[in-house]
Amino acid sequence: MDALLAILADGEFYSGNKIGQELGITRAAVWKRIKQLEIKLGQRIQSVPGKGYRLQQPLNYLDIDLIRQHLPSVAELVYAKEIDSTNAEAKRLIKRQIHDSIVLSESQTEGQGRRGRQWQSPYATNLYMSYVLPITQGMQQIEGLSLSVGLAINHAIKEFGIEGTGLKWPNDVLISNKKVAGILLELVGDPADQCFVVIGVGVNINMQLPVQEIEQAWTSLALELGRPVERSAFTVSLIQQLDDVLQAHLEGGFSRLKSDWEAAHLWQNKRAVLSMAGRKIEGIIRGVNDRGELAFEQDGCIGFYAGGELSLRLSDDS
Ligand code: BTN
Repeated sequence: MDALLAILADGEFYSGNKIGQELGITRAAVWKRIKQLEIKLGQRIQSVPGKGYRLQQPLNYLDIDLIRQHLPSVAELVYAKEIDSTNAEAKRLIKRQIHDSIVLSESQTEGQGRRGRQWQSPYATNLYMSYVLPITQGMQQIEGLSLSVGLAINHAIKEFGIEGTGLKWPNDVLISNKKVAGILLELVGDPADQCFVVIGVGVNINMQLPVQEIEQAWTSLALELGRPVERSAFTVSLIQQLDDVLQAHLEGGFSRLKSDWEAAHLWQNKRAVLSMAGRKIEGIIRGVNDRGELAFEQDGCIGFYAGGELSLRLSDDS
């Protein structure tokens, strides 16, 4: 662990002098290291004259034993303090024939977002998880899957008493129109033979500061609630919601979850601009079909749209 973090981990105050002595650096250097640590943690570190520095909350690691107790069905729960990407690790496990797994990490050095973007993954602050789902009944089981995952995340966030949470097609989870979670699905294997979906989920739990600028408006559960959230409890709740929603999805397809999804859809019946391949069309978002495709109304006709290269924004008059 970072030596400065090891000193501050218990959430008590430590003076700049004492930290400086322990690390063998000047007080000015301590201040610099504090600023770097804030970035690593995505958290502000309190600085009080006469008292020193302290973490606003003691370091809150995932309690893997507690999470395991609540998940009797998972064969392999992999946990790391730091990893390149939980999705990458899940793919490595599949290669080694370990199929029924969930990967959790306290941080990611190469967290991946959609469209080749990076996913910011500060240490011991948010949730980074990959859940491996075997696909046994053909590719139609994948239709609408990312929307179902969004629904599970939305249920878990609601359970923590957060108002104003909802979904934006295809798979953004928003609170008050700010992104709080992201989903990255990756297909592994041969669709004609044995095939798996790695369901990568990132949820901003206690993040207060981004590691770098984030293009999109963002929030975290802690920012919304005004207090830190117990990460292990949220993780258990999310995995249970995922188990339930994915079971319904595998049994009945996305159509079984479509009305729940539309009820949580924040942009239902709003005017919007749909951008695709350099073209923009204006219309009204009418929800989704049984395959999870966007139902978009233009001049009284509804068209259905799918694909990762589409993007939606609200019209100015919405
Ligand atoms: C998005 O761009 O909205 C998707 C972000 C997905 C991030 C998660 S964090 C856990 C898993 N591992 C990754 O590298 N990415 C996903």
